[in-house]
Amino acid sequence: MAEKSYGLLKGKKGIIFGPLDESSIGWHIATAAYREGAELAISNVALALRIGKPQELAKMCGDAPLIPCDATNMQEIDACFKTVKDKFGKIDFFVHSVGMSANIRKGIPYENLNYDWYLKTLDVSGLSLHKLINSALANDVLNDHASVLALTHMAAQRPFTTYTDMAEAKSILESIARNFGSRLGAKKIRVNTVSQSPTWTRAGSGIEDFDKMFYFADLLAPLGNATAEECGDYCTTLLSDLTRKVTMQNLFHDGGFSMMGMSQRMLHLVYDAIQDTENLRKAGYDEETIKRITERAE
Ligand SMILES: NC(=O)c1ccc[n+]([C@@H]2O[C@H](COP(=O)([O-])OP(=O)(O)OC[C@H]3O[C@@H](n4cnc5c(N)ncnc54)[C@H](O)[C@@H]3O)[C@@H](O)[C@H]2O)c1
Repeated sequence: MAEKSYGLLKGKKGIIFGPLDESSIGWHIATAAYREGAELAISNVALALRIGKPQELAKMCGDAPLIPCDATNMQEIDACFKTVKDKFGKIDFFVHSVGMSANIRKGIPYENLNYDWYLKTLDVSGLSLHKLINSALANDVLNDHASVLALTHMAAQRPFTTYTDMAEAKSILESIARNFGSRLGAKKIRVNTVSQSPTWTRAGSGIEDFDKMFYFADLLAPLGNATAEECGDYCTTLLSDLTRKVTMQNLFHDGGFSMMGMSQRMLHLVYDAIQDTENLRKAGYDEETIKRITERAE
């Protein structure tokens, strides 16, 4: 995390949805925004606020009000924005750092998703951005030039086998950001998504083979994976006046991973691994493929 404040958010007010504990990306967006001078409110589902950690965060952020809100429930969202407006007046930003998939938690493969949970994933992790923006507009809580930001992952564009139904949720989320962004230009409100590297959080590390996904991205990205702290720093720029003309963008914060094809170091790693046919068998390749590959590699 940056050591000094640049005062980027001095005089600005906003709410962060989704900080859970010190590992959360939302936690680091909140601490970075507070360091940059913002006045904050913190929100999560009521249960998460009761278990204590967000209370710690609120203290660290100048006794920020803690506002319970299930981001899928329009009544709770309306009540949340009304509370925000009572406390702060109109605000300058909000951050959607919310995500959950029961299918991922239970390790259900994509081919066999539980459809009730699938719908819940889409609602919590995608549609909730629409609901938050809709309510923020209806309650007239956003100042002109406000910034709305949501966290996403590259699985929205390209398949990541174990990301299952979250991939679709992220595609919806990014599409909502573009579609609201195109409509809110008239109010000078911008809407963007930040596509973050794999990060060791509660939601992230619940993904099957997350550790392998993490190291794969870390080794391929020229700058290595971006941490939650670094994401917090980056997000402050997108909440600030320095990025007034940035809207409808999906911005990759991933050490360059999304632009990479292959690196020579990774190439050598893979080539060394396939010299041992047992590695290919463990990876699930059939005997015909193994034969083809080992013949060529010799
Ligand atoms: N961790 C990663 O590898 C990674 C990578 C890219 C993007 N992201 C995204 O970053 C965001 C934050 O996730 P995180 O990784 O910090 O994990 P996290 O578990 O710390 O945060 C997810 C938060 O969503 C909250 N939440 C769940 N259901 C909710 C609901 N109905 N209403 C309101 N809040 C609800 C949880 O309580 C939790 O605080 C998510 O959108 C996630 O998909 C994470």
